[in-house]
Amino acid sequence: MIIAIDGPAAAGKGTLAERLAAHYGLAYLDTGLLYRAVGRAMAEAGLDPDDAAAAARVAAALDPARLADPHLRGREAGELASRVAVHPAVRAALLDLQRGFARRPEGAVLDGRDIGTAICPDADVKIFVTAAPEVRARRRTDELAAKGRDVPYERILAEILERDARDSGRASAPLRRAEDAVLLDTSALDREAALAAAIAIVEAARAG
Ligand code: DC
Repeated sequence: MIIAIDGPAAAGKGTLAERLAAHYGLAYLDTGLLYRAVGRAMAEAGLDPDDAAAAARVAAALDPARLADPHLRGREAGELASRVAVHPAVRAALLDLQRGFARRPEGAVLDGRDIGTAICPDADVKIFVTAAPEVRARRRTDELAAKGRDVPYERILAEILERDARDSGRASAPLRRAEDAVLLDTSALDREAALAAAIAIVEAARAG
């Protein structure tokens, strides 16, 4: 069973996908980490993330061991990731790795922006997880505050809106809901309720 989870930045896809994978005993790939690793490797090498040819070279040489780097989770890496992700050659370089991951016999859970539309269009279950930008910004601000990092809500909201616009507006595999994806709006749901709703979607897909 392949479960594809897509949605905008800070919608809670990662937590949900990880818990769904644990629930069904499936392997999980956070595909955002791939783009984050490319963006960060470029910054470290002093390369411009908007340079498509350089970004494609870095993506093609990506060492999967880099995905464990905790620095990849930060806001700066997210912004760099969104910038390198617009280049079609970067997306092409990361395709085999993602499809290879999904090809394991028992299946897998993948989350990102284009899993249901481009990476695994034949996934058994597709969920498009979203929440109002203000809700996502509030959650992200609170998460950072809990770690002792006080970043103004308005700044986080502006970053989220900018990332949504770039991820949805790019020409190559933009963020969008696949026609056969089930919409899961978590604006009014806590983590437990979101997980329960996702499991219900998977069960309905399996039964149907
Ligand atoms: O999910 P995330 O915030 O870690 O993703 C970081 C950026 O990477 C996101 O803003 C756009 C890009 N991305 C993508 O283009 N396609 C994916 N499947 C996953 C992430």
